[in-house]
Amino acid sequence: MARTALVTGGSRGIGAAISKALQDQGCTVAATYAGNDEAAAKFTEETGIKTYKWNVGSYEESQAGIAKVEADLGPIDIVVANAGITRDAPFHKMTPQQWQEVIDTNLTGVFNTVHPIWPGMRERKFGRVIVISSINGQKGQFAQANYAATKAGDLGIVKSLAQEGARAGITANAICPGYIATEMVMAVPEKVRESIINQIPTGRLGEPEEIARCVAFLASDDSGFINGSTISANGGQFFV
Ligand code: CAA
Repeated sequence: MARTALVTGGSRGIGAAISKALQDQGCTVAATYAGNDEAAAKFTEETGIKTYKWNVGSYEESQAGIAKVEADLGPIDIVVANAGITRDAPFHKMTPQQWQEVIDTNLTGVFNTVHPIWPGMRERKFGRVIVISSINGQKGQFAQANYAATKAGDLGIVKSLAQEGARAGITANAICPGYIATEMVMAVPEKVRESIINQIPTGRLGEPEEIARCVAFLASDDSGFINGSTISANGGQFFV
């Protein structure tokens, strides 16, 4: 069945691969982005996927943006809360601003993205909520007290929504990517990145498409009995 999907942070990195995979699966996709107009325009030109600009950390902007997407494309059946940022610093150097920015985008952003869509999913008795968490929400990470807290929190949101949505035909699941070859990981100092790769039994970074294929499956009508789960896709770096 043709479904409508919203992917936050969907024009770059893992999000862009997710948007494309859902489109390949027959979905009509809307991708949001926060600031990079040039990358978004290029993405739309290449894929035909519409992009929308708003800050997922703002409830008002999210609500208005989602209303616009639904007016353009129809009710949203699949929501992928993917938008995320890092502001890495050892805890003794982490500023309140670095803490708050990451909380606003990665944690409150999930609430702001799913909450306006949720009532419609309940009414229509179908929904797929997929949250992109992280290996570092499972295991913690040096210099990521803020990021790890949000990514662990995302798992709590998913497990709660899984219970609340089940009777209404809605599933909520999380994916915990390991280190994937995106700009976010490439921003880590090269020496640190090399030592990270040494900790991955597969011996390489993951590809965005390897996460996108997990999302495509969880978003499909076939995955209805998978609810509240966490898929770890990390090359064997960490087992839960
Ligand atoms: N474990 C233990 N010690 C570590 C360490 C680690 N993983 N990383 C750094 N250190 C140590 C260093 O060896 C250094 O020790 P010395 O002072 O004794 O030499 C110290 O910590 C670094 O202290 P600095 O004051 O120099 O640190 P800094 O303020 O310059 O910050 C940093 C550097 C931000 C920690 C930088 O090293 C960094 O970015 N590290 C990577 C953090 C990381 O893995 N982030 C993940 C990003 S990818 C992502 O988030 C996607 C995803 O979901 C997987």
